[in-house]
Amino acid sequence: SQIMKGGYTHFMEKEIFEQPETIAQTMQGRVKITPLSPMKYAVPGIDPYLMPRVRMGGLVDHVSTIRRSRRLMFIACGTSYHAAMACRQTVEELTEIPVVLELASDLLDRRCPIFRDDTCVFVSQSGETADTFRALEYAKACGALCVGVTNTVGSAIARNTHCGIHINAGAEIGVASTKAYTSQIVAITMMALVLSEDAISKRQRRDEIIDSLCQLPDMVRRTLKLNDQIKQLAAELKDEQSCLMFGRGRNYATAMEAALKVKEVSYMHSEGINAGEMKHGPLALVDDKLPIVVVSTMDSMHSKMAGVIQQLMARNGRLIVLANEEDDEMVDIVAGKYPIIQVPRVDDALQAVVNIIPLQLLSYHLTTLRGFNVDQPRNLAKSVTVT
Ligand code: G6P
Repeated sequence: SQIMKGGYTHFMEKEIFEQPETIAQTMQGRVKITPLSPMKYAVPGIDPYLMPRVRMGGLVDHVSTIRRSRRLMFIACGTSYHAAMACRQTVEELTEIPVVLELASDLLDRRCPIFRDDTCVFVSQSGETADTFRALEYAKACGALCVGVTNTVGSAIARNTHCGIHINAGAEIGVASTKAYTSQIVAITMMALVLSEDAISKRQRRDEIIDSLCQLPDMVRRTLKLNDQIKQLAAELKDEQSCLMFGRGRNYATAMEAALKVKEVSYMHSEGINAGEMKHGPLALVDDKLPIVVVSTMDSMHSKMAGVIQQLMARNGRLIVLANEEDDEMVDIVAGKYPIIQVPRVDDALQAVVNIIPLQLLSYHLTTLRGFNVDQPRNLAKSVTVT
């Protein structure tokens, strides 16, 4: 098993560090880098700028049906649900179709109305999660088009959906999902790009996202170099009972996923909070002891998050700020008072992929420093096959 871990101590550690490669695998054979070097891909007689840059073989027969659907529903559990959360805005922006997110168990509890002109996207690493599978059976019975986003060829969800995408991240062994999360975000983003390919008005936006996709493996590789800094930070936090994760917009998903990672493997209580709701309750928790990780990279939420940080500072909050490398404004605000984790900047649509990396590392190091087995957390299973 030491060989299977490729020199790493734990599967979770291995899976965190292989993300530059697994993200590239998700895009392999599906994304063309045309505008960066159009001539290289030129086909005689065809304007290289008009060639589709993203292809998803598993969707081609159903793309026009999905484009005509009245609503896109993403249905999942756990980390897979957070991946859908991280992509919601991108899917809305590119397709202009209303997008809703559903926890599979809650959808079933409510017997949520689903219609024939809905497209339901089932996101599941294992493809075997019972709640998600039951929701698939329910949606099929309602007559919806069902799409799978899975990491397991031949799994129950892959076999029973009408079409789908394999994320190709390779087998994930650690109970806490890491590389599947980042590949799910990449795969759903590619799906949104394919769905909007007929919209001329979105072409420039699509090109920006695709250019950023092409650079993503390198950006993730660079982000992993923060490991020593994060290990140090984990040593400072290891005896805490609780920590909060603040984010908004696409990075509310980052906050939720980071909190899930920390609680599931290190057993430290952690809560993901939408910073937009801060003044409606969470502010009462702020004091000079409770650690608060604030995700405030330079996406469209940047100025709002700068305001959040100033309000937390005014209440003597104990902050850890996650910001971009070139964000001098944030460095000035933090002014050496708090630790600052600086990550590379990528397109807004993909910043959540980069942002989760240091927080995956934080949960990993917190767990080993607290003396727990990061690959086998108590009471949890990799694949939950009961409802
Ligand atoms: C379990 C795992 C989680 C996972 C969730 C959904 O709770 O411990 O890591 O996110 O199931 O699993 P799936 O295979 O459907 O993505």
